Amino acid sequence: VTIRHRLGSYEIKFRDIAASLADLPDDARVICDQNVEAAFGLSERIDLPYLALEPGEAAKSIPYFARCLDWLAESGASRKTVVIALGGGVIGDLVGFVAASYMRGVEFIQIPTTLLAQVDSSVGGKVGIDLPSGKNLAGAFYAPSRVDICPDALQTLPERQVRNGMAEVLKYGFIMDAALLELAQGGDFFRVVPRCIDLKRQVVEADELELDGTRAILNFGHTVGHALEKLTGYGPLLHGEAISVGMAVEARLGERLGITAPGTSERVREILAEWRLPTEHPLTREAKNMLSAMRTDKKATKGRLAFSLLTRIGECKLIADVDDQDVVEALEIS
Ligand SMILES: NC(=O)c1ccc[n+]([C@@H]2O[C@H](COP(=O)([O-])OP(=O)(O)OC[C@H]3O[C@@H](n4cnc5c(N)ncnc54)[C@H](O)[C@@H]3O)[C@@H](O)[C@H]2O)c1
Ligand SMILES: [Zn+2]
Repeated sequence: VTIRHRLGSYEIKFRDIAASLADLPDDARVICDQNVEAAFGLSERIDLPYLALEPGEAAKSIPYFARCLDWLAESGASRKTVVIALGGGVIGDLVGFVAASYMRGVEFIQIPTTLLAQVDSSVGGKVGIDLPSGKNLAGAFYAPSRVDICPDALQTLPERQVRNGMAEVLKYGFIMDAALLELAQGGDFFRVVPRCIDLKRQVVEADELELDGTRAILNFGHTVGHALEKLTGYGPLLHGEAISVGMAVEARLGERLGITAPGTSERVREILAEWRLPTEHPLTREAKNMLSAMRTDKKATKGRLAFSLLTRIGECKLIADVDDQDVVEALEIS
């Protein structure tokens, strides 16, 4: 698959992890986390300098950003050095931003190793870190020179992380590809992952910089999901779990508003439940708190909420200016 962007294009290659790791430039620096280091036995497998960070979202932060830049400088990395992001979405976002910043930008290669990173975060060029005041508040649009997708790298992924990524897979199915929901049932990542990547490619190529709202359709389940992540303090709920609850609530909201075909929200909940993903959470009933958390959503304008809502399974549209009261009711009955 070729991804085009404003400054050029890059290739997404499907290959196995051994082939990917054997095909890295001589002048490269690898940044991963310690789980990934252990899962791939990295010290035995590559000859390149590498840095293995503590796993977890906390690495997507100014202190770790600084640490990576310092490590590159101390290890003698030049403008020609290629930085390799080997890991999940945390590593991809952090290391992409490091690559965008080191010497005003060096080449970087992404090797995403979680399902979520393969189907979502490694496509679309968004890189960045969190600030104490919020998630993803510092970052850039910065394209990799190559992305290697290795479905076999998912074999060591804990089951909860697999379900976490499945939430995003199902999201693509709900918003734009009903057939993907059937394909996903087989759980064959070699078929599911390329399909998701192609769906995301279509959307981001149409609206790379998130200017005209096309890209915002990918936010189905995310207005509510992000609020829930915020209220639960980023940790107890994984992102995919939070957006799973969000998709259930937003499907119901769509039905209330007459935008989503009746019966759709029930089907959405059934499909999520088949993957043992949550469709409710006690905090969503605290509608006031949820609403104020949602107002910080990037889609909100002048305090009015916007949602990507299903019209039916496999189709969606962006609805700006949704009434608070409708949101409250959709939250309270969930
Ligand atoms: N840039 C984007 O467009 C975009 C899109 C979606 C999400 N994100 C970001 O992605 C991040 C979440 O990514 P994630 O869910 O991949 O989390 P993650 O990077 O924390 O990985 C999840 C866990 O799996 C472990 N792991 C990774 N690969 C493994 C493997 N092959 N075997 C065993 N364990 C492995 C990690 O060490 C970690 O503990 C969030 O920060 C989110 O904001 C970015
Ligand atoms: Zn998401």
